Amino acid sequence: MTLKTVLVTGGAGYIGTHTMVELLGQGYEVVCLDNFSNSSPEAIKRVEKIAGKKITTVTGDVRDREVMSRVFKRPIDGVIHFAALKAVGDSVKRPIDYYGNNVGGSIALLDAMHERGVHRIVFSSSATVYGVPEKLPIEESAPIRPINPYGQTKAMVEQMLLDWCMADATHTAISLRYFNPIGAHESGLIGEDPHDVPNNLFPFITQIAIGKQAQLTVWGDDWPTPDGTGVRDYLHVMDLARGHVNALEHAFGIGGHATVNLGTGNGTSVLQMIAAFEVASGKKITYQFGPRRAGDVAACWADPSLAQRLWQWQAKLSVERACADGWRWQQQNPNGYRD
Ligand SMILES: NC(=O)c1ccc[n+]([C@@H]2O[C@H](COP(=O)([O-])OP(=O)(O)OC[C@H]3O[C@@H](n4cnc5c(N)ncnc54)[C@H](O)[C@@H]3O)[C@@H](O)[C@H]2O)c1
Repeated sequence: MTLKTVLVTGGAGYIGTHTMVELLGQGYEVVCLDNFSNSSPEAIKRVEKIAGKKITTVTGDVRDREVMSRVFKRPIDGVIHFAALKAVGDSVKRPIDYYGNNVGGSIALLDAMHERGVHRIVFSSSATVYGVPEKLPIEESAPIRPINPYGQTKAMVEQMLLDWCMADATHTAISLRYFNPIGAHESGLIGEDPHDVPNNLFPFITQIAIGKQAQLTVWGDDWPTPDGTGVRDYLHVMDLARGHVNALEHAFGIGGHATVNLGTGNGTSVLQMIAAFEVASGKKITYQFGPRRAGDVAACWADPSLAQRLWQWQAKLSVERACADGWRWQQQNPNGYRD
């Protein structure tokens, strides 16, 4: 492979940092653009330490045209676009901020790419675009019916990328629909660092184990699942990171738009996750049951066979391994990157 330069928007965030480690390890040059609205410059230093390589960092917003023209002054071969707001509940409270950042940011990015003749993009979509699944596992051909503004922004950007690819045969876009990323790099140097009370199960559990949260509320014990708690497809973040490099390499090969699930294909219930984490950490996770939350679904897991067919990608790391890696990160960094 000739050395290629990849622009990573939102690279300082949870999935971006792990993907930059993978990109640098595969010999790519990385330019990271982040406004640090939900991350810290320290995260980039940690990635450089793991990889033993430098990252060109630009501090700024994808919606800022002056910043974008500065970013694209250097030759960029492809883009991985993570920069977005990502909290479902928050998106219900301030939808216009979500449309502005996630959809508006993607439009500004595509404009800047067009000006500079950059034709390849890998986009962070989400299993949220499926809404309430009709059947499991969820295939890419399942109906797109998001049930909150966050999911709507992801579906809109997917549609925009499809149209962008239809307009020009040299354009390639891969929308990766992630299921539930968890865990951390095995070094314990990088990991998920929520600024507020975590929205997702896994970081909430790690914060209970470290003493920052008192107790977990498990929303619903009467779902139609084997133990009555919600079932999700938890994917190790390093498997997810590897999927991005596969997608990018694919994008260098062909034109057109593809939507691809990245998940393990297996479901894990909340109680199973708690048990796995207790074994990995040796800590007791106290929990109580609460009522089902509106908008939640009983179970959701991926059919990941398209990624397997296209790129021979499949998840390799277990939930147990993700628990051990996530716990290492939390123990070594009780206050995240602020330590
Ligand atoms: N974490 C998940 O569970 C999950 C699941 C599915 C999809 N996704 C998507 O994956 C992507 C990355 O998620 P994450 O968990 O790493 O989130 P994150 O918040 O940790 O990372 C996002 C990064 O983007 C930056 N950012 C946000 N808006 C920006 C802007 N306008 N300009 C420049 N930088 C900006 C933030 O500072 C942050 O560093 C997001 O698009 C998210 O919607 C995440």
